[in-house]
Amino acid sequence: MPRPARPNSSPPQRPRKPRGDHRTRQPAHEYVLEVLPGLEAVAEGELGAVPLARDIRGLRFWYPGDPERLTRLRSVVAAYRVRAWDVPRPRGLLGHQQLGELTAFLAEVVRFGGHRSFRLAAAGRESSVMARLADELQAALNLPHDPEEGELLIRLRPQEDGPGWEVLARLTPRPLSARAWRVCNRGGGLNATIAYALHKLAGQRDEDRIFNPMSGSGTLLVERALLGPYDAMVGVDLDPAAVACARANLQAARREVEVAQVDALHTGLPARSFDLIVSDLPWGDAIGTHGGNAELYPAFLSEMHRLLSRQGRLVVLTHELRLFERLLREQDRWHARELFQVYSGGHHPKAYLLGKR
Ligand SMILES: C[S@@+](CC[C@H](N)C(=O)[O-])C[C@H]1O[C@@H](n2cnc3c(N)ncnc32)[C@H](O)[C@@H]1O
Repeated sequence: MPRPARPNSSPPQRPRKPRGDHRTRQPAHEYVLEVLPGLEAVAEGELGAVPLARDIRGLRFWYPGDPERLTRLRSVVAAYRVRAWDVPRPRGLLGHQQLGELTAFLAEVVRFGGHRSFRLAAAGRESSVMARLADELQAALNLPHDPEEGELLIRLRPQEDGPGWEVLARLTPRPLSARAWRVCNRGGGLNATIAYALHKLAGQRDEDRIFNPMSGSGTLLVERALLGPYDAMVGVDLDPAAVACARANLQAARREVEVAQVDALHTGLPARSFDLIVSDLPWGDAIGTHGGNAELYPAFLSEMHRLLSRQGRLVVLTHELRLFERLLREQDRWHARELFQVYSGGHHPKAYLLGKR
């Protein structure tokens, strides 16, 4: 008999479902969030602010509310509804009853997300069992199976804390990290969930005057503009194509932020113009060169020290870890702490928060 997935790490005495109170009379479903490795704590913080999310174990939880709320999580790559079946192998999902329940489970997700095709993700997805499952689901859901681009991403995996298998169905046709505002993309563009995390950890203050030097496609500008009020915000980039790209993204997000084609090291702005400087520096591979960065980074730190207010915060995301950490060791004008290291697209940049000594 299929049954809902047990919470991964909950002690045995815990109820499998959160107890209903007057606010949780709608049926709860279990969900799991996917995040970039390194951003788990940020996502847990964001999840903690979702009203009615219950029985939270890391990024797994029960939720009786409208799933639409979960698609607004900004630190999350994808949100999945999850259900487990007490079957020893995926073949068990082909049983008459199991298949009926699986179809109903997936159909509800499709009703919500409007997916137009599906794909399966599982170890051995080429196997004959997976091929049969794909055929059965194609007929039952009346959705085309597209193994590469299918919008309803269905993951099958063994339960972590039980003998069965669980099925995860992605709520949205595209990952949540693929923002609707991104109408222009550039090589070296930052994953938007990282931009969100940088702003959350830098601190979000209404009175901040914010500078985003080297703004590229404007990811950090848009994500901050969407977070809420600030006193002022400006981005600059040397490359006119980057400036146009950032402007297009800001326009798509319906946010007015000034972006100028200016050298971040020679803005001509007065000292202490900003309370928060957020930067995604050239990493020395896709953007910039390692040799160039050896000169750029110290000049950048020096100019940002001038532009930052006394109590201001400087956030730096970089993949030039050795260079940047050596520069920090060799200076005494900044205090610094690491915010996170994140794994994204084959890179593992670190984020630092600096303040003036
Ligand atoms: C890593 S990319 C930034 C990517 C950006 N966060 C995004 O999401 O698209 C670095 C950017 O720095 C710009 N850049 C390099 N040196 C600069 C300088 N001295 N002043 C302003 N922009 C500069 C490059 O043109 C490039 O667009």
